[in-house]
Amino acid sequence: MPMVIAIDGPAASGKGTLAKRLAAHYGLPHLDTGLLYRAVALTVIDAGCNLDDHAAAARAASTLIVDRLADPRLRERAMGDAASRISSIPAVRAALLAWQQRFAGGASGAVLDGRDIGTVVCPQAQVKLFITAAAEERARRRHLELMRRGEPASLGAILADIVARDARDAQRSTAPLKAAADAVVLDTTDLDADEAFAAARAVVDRAR
Ligand code: C5P
Repeated sequence: MPMVIAIDGPAASGKGTLAKRLAAHYGLPHLDTGLLYRAVALTVIDAGCNLDDHAAAARAASTLIVDRLADPRLRERAMGDAASRISSIPAVRAALLAWQQRFAGGASGAVLDGRDIGTVVCPQAQVKLFITAAAEERARRRHLELMRRGEPASLGAILADIVARDARDAQRSTAPLKAAADAVVLDTTDLDADEAFAAARAVVDRAR
């Protein structure tokens, strides 16, 4: 059976980097599902609509095309917050669910990372990882990444962003951020990227 690896976790937990490395290591296609929500938010903004406009967001989700995922604006800091706002709309989640499940159902298997992959999108995944780290450490890492990208912001503002986004993602009623009951929780607060990768590989190799 093709292997599906589901990776969830809060903002800036390092799950994206880990997902990319695992996908390369095991030769699996990778989908960063956060990009889908970011692309829906950007489509709504570009159309001049309000992020609270549920009909506009649902329309953007059901007509989303893959080309949108390459837009560099999706990675901007404000887009994470915008994505979190539209991601609590059930019709948006429903439209993107089919998209993600098609990707995961391919013959070659897949790695998907997000917030609800192990719980909702791929409840049958052979491997489920929930990647977490202390909020202060996640803020420090995001700060470094933004500086490298030439998008400076204060550490305090980034921490506040992260805490607010996690709270909204964990409290929404549809597909909230939470570890699946059968997920392996990996706390990377004291691990560097290579150590986190080795720990995740050990989990995958045990499940194969
Ligand atoms: O992972 P990333 O920071 O790009 O996600 C942006 C936002 O998209 C998250 O804060 C969350 O609200 C939403 N999201 C989601 N479910 C996913 C992936 C992302 O609700 N599977």
